[in-house]
Parts: sequence; C-alpha cells; structure tokens
Amino acid sequence: MRAVVRGARGVNGELSLPGDKSLAHRALLFGALADGEMRVRGLPPGGDVASTRSCLETLGARFEDIPGGVRVLPPESWRTGETLDCGNSGTTTRLLAGVLAGLGLATTLDGDASLRRRPMRRVADPLRLLGASVTTREDGCLPLIIAPPRDRLDGIRVELAVASAQVKSAILLAGLFATGPTTVVEPALSRDHTERMLAAMGVDVQRDGLAVTVPGRRDDGAAPRLHGLTLDLPGDISTAAFYLAAGAMRPGSSVILRGVGINPSRTGILDALHGMGAAVKLANERTAAGEPVADLATESSPMRGISIGGDLVPRLIDELPILAVAATAADGATEVRDAAELRHKESDRIATTVTQLARLGADIHERPDGFTIHGPCRLRGAEVDAGGDHRLAMALAVAALSAEGETVISGAEAASVSHPDFWSDVARLAGPDAVRLEEENA
Ligand code: S3P
Repeated sequence: MRAVVRGARGVNGELSLPGDKSLAHRALLFGALADGEMRVRGLPPGGDVASTRSCLETLGARFEDIPGGVRVLPPESWRTGETLDCGNSGTTTRLLAGVLAGLGLATTLDGDASLRRRPMRRVADPLRLLGASVTTREDGCLPLIIAPPRDRLDGIRVELAVASAQVKSAILLAGLFATGPTTVVEPALSRDHTERMLAAMGVDVQRDGLAVTVPGRRDDGAAPRLHGLTLDLPGDISTAAFYLAAGAMRPGSSVILRGVGINPSRTGILDALHGMGAAVKLANERTAAGEPVADLATESSPMRGISIGGDLVPRLIDELPILAVAATAADGATEVRDAAELRHKESDRIATTVTQLARLGADIHERPDGFTIHGPCRLRGAEVDAGGDHRLAMALAVAALSAEGETVISGAEAASVSHPDFWSDVARLAGPDAVRLEEENA
C-alpha cells in the first residue's frame, strides 16, 4: 500500500494513543509466567504485540477478553517442539528467547525477512554463558534454536557492550530460572520496563547504578514466584513522538496527547525536543502500571539544531528517525552520534533515514554512527519508500506534511506493526484530504 500525503499542513487536535508496545510485550509474556491473574487493559493493536500473543498461544497460554483488554491464562503445560513465528518483532524474539532458555523448552524462533537479518548472537551468547542451549544460524541470525540444557543453569554477571533492553531482559528472564543471582551491567541505561514490572510482580530486583540483579531459583529449586497484576497501559511515547514532531514543526499546529508513558528511560525525545526549543508541555502527571504518565501538548515554535550522543541515545533510540525529520525544520546543524545500533533495527535506520529524507530535499549526511542535518531544509514532495520499517513510514509521513506538494510513500502498510490507526489519525489531525491510501500497483 502507498500513502499519498499532501504537504504544507498544520496538525490540530487531541488523541489517545495505543498502549505502550514495550510494556504490552512484557505484560503478556510475564503474565504467561505468573501465578495469579494478569489483566492487561489498553493493549496496542499492532502486529508486533499480536506476534507475542500468538507465540504464547502456540506455547499453550490462553487469552480471555475482558472489557478493554485481556486476561492472560498461563499454559497448563508448556508445548515443546514448536516453531514460533515472531513476525517483525525483535522484542518478541529476544524476550521469548530468555524465557524459553530459562524454561529449557525445545523450540525454534523465527520471523520475517527483516527480523531474519537482525543480530541474535548478542542474546544467544550470554544465554549460553548461563548454561542454556541456544544456537543461531551460522551468520548469527534467526532461526534461533533452543534445546533443553545439559545441566542446570547458573547465575552469571554479564557486562553488555551495547545498551539494549531486549538483551538485558532476555538475560534477566533466563536468570530467574538459574541457580544463584544474575547481574546485567549496561554501558548506559536502556528502558527499564522489565525491571519495574518484575519488581511489581514480587521479584526482588536490585539496582546498583547501571547494574541490575535478579535472584535465581528459591531454596526449594522453584523459580521466583510472579504475582499477576492489573495493568492499564499508558500511551506509547514512541508513537507520541510522531505527533509531537509534526506539531512542533508545522506553523499553526496544536496537538494534545492524553495519558502518555514518560518513564525517564524513554523520554530522551522530550529532552531533545526541549533542547531544540520545541514547545512541548507536560500536564496531569500520574502513575499507571507502575510507570509515570502525563498528558503531552505541543504547539509550533521556532527550533534550533542540537547535538545528540552518549547516554541520551538509548533513551530515544526508536525516535531518531522522527528526530531527523524535526531537525529539517530547525535552524542550524543537528548531529546524531553514538547511534550505530540504528543499523540493526527493522531496517538500517541510518541508511533509510538519510536516503529517504534526502529524496525529499533534506540536507542530511550519513555518519558511521548517525547523521548530520543542516536546517532549515526546504522539503519538496517526492517518491519515498518506508523499506518495510514502521517507524520510517510514520517519520516520512510527518516529513511529507512539511513538504511542498505531494509525497508518495511506498510500503505505508508497515505503520501497522506498531500503530494501525496512524493514517486515519493523521487525516484527523491534518485534514481528510491530507492522506490518500492506494494499492501499490494502482
Ligand atoms: C525495546 C528495546 C529497544 C527498542 C525496541 C523495543 C524493548 O531495542 O529499539 O523497539 O521493548 O525492550 P534494543 O533493546 O535492541 O535496543
């Protein structure tokens, strides 16, 4: 499917966003391990969370609809010998790998063409150090094959080379089934939803700076008990970022987003937008699902370039494509460094962001670990391609709203991986004639 976006549009209105994708994966997965009932409301409808749910169903978990959400019923017995299709979702793959390695269940994890290109040794290697049996294809990619371990798992201390919440979570989850504690030390803090949710479920999670430790099996040999929770998931700040950027960039815009998660390990985008001079305001701060939440509002304002690197990068890793778009409206240079991880996402997001924004006329240059943009750039409608990457599809749409004339975005359906309502929400905020969806070969 392609989206034809008419440019030079302001965005105006109020939205409630889909629930946070990172929290949703964890709620379903940890719910399948819980003793009591896990009730999750506000689950996002995207393809990635559906992948986690269907993998868990294949493994024997059941899901019962409740008003506004689901109740997770853990498997009565875990099914083995299954090949699990993780679709496009790295979080499904890596978190499930940790759980399945910990449980020692013979299973195979596989996914779509994009997921099959993503690195899996970073999770397989530390899981093997714990004593688990986990193998990747020779090139370190999917399928990932998990077998019952030869011996018991023993807790370990691992120092990660890159800050990754997926890898950290996989090791901690497997560590719950090991003998003795498991510690993961990160070079910088990545999102800490796993730690928070496990702690809320009763696990004695200890944090000491950048080190986080979970206990292993109890004295009787059983894994730590996880209590079920009732969670109302906050809106996804990674989705909010597209509307915040659109509102900040386009003159005459005003956007209000209700109930967005503002976990400090995820709010790098707010810090960056504030640093650029964007008028993003937080109101009504509260807590939901053990996570801080606020309403966010933004209006257009003059913006200036910014330098991004170091510890800020893991706090806005998924928002860098949309930040590049915002930088095209800012005065001066915006430089993103220390973000080589972007090359291992749903696409090589350094290459895709640079090539596609350049097509729209952005003055953007690739670096090995990021990119530089010299703004303000005069964007003009052009043909661009989302490259099968949901965040690229949405970032290009926001760029297109700022461009003169029409932009044709191929592969627009990719947005549904995290935000199936994206195109209709853009039409609501930018006007019904701002977006037209067409079949690719029309
Ligand atoms: C996620 C962690 C991040 C992020 C991804 C979701 C998570 O990946 O890019 O979209 O929910 O744990 P890495 O941990 O690989 O950086």
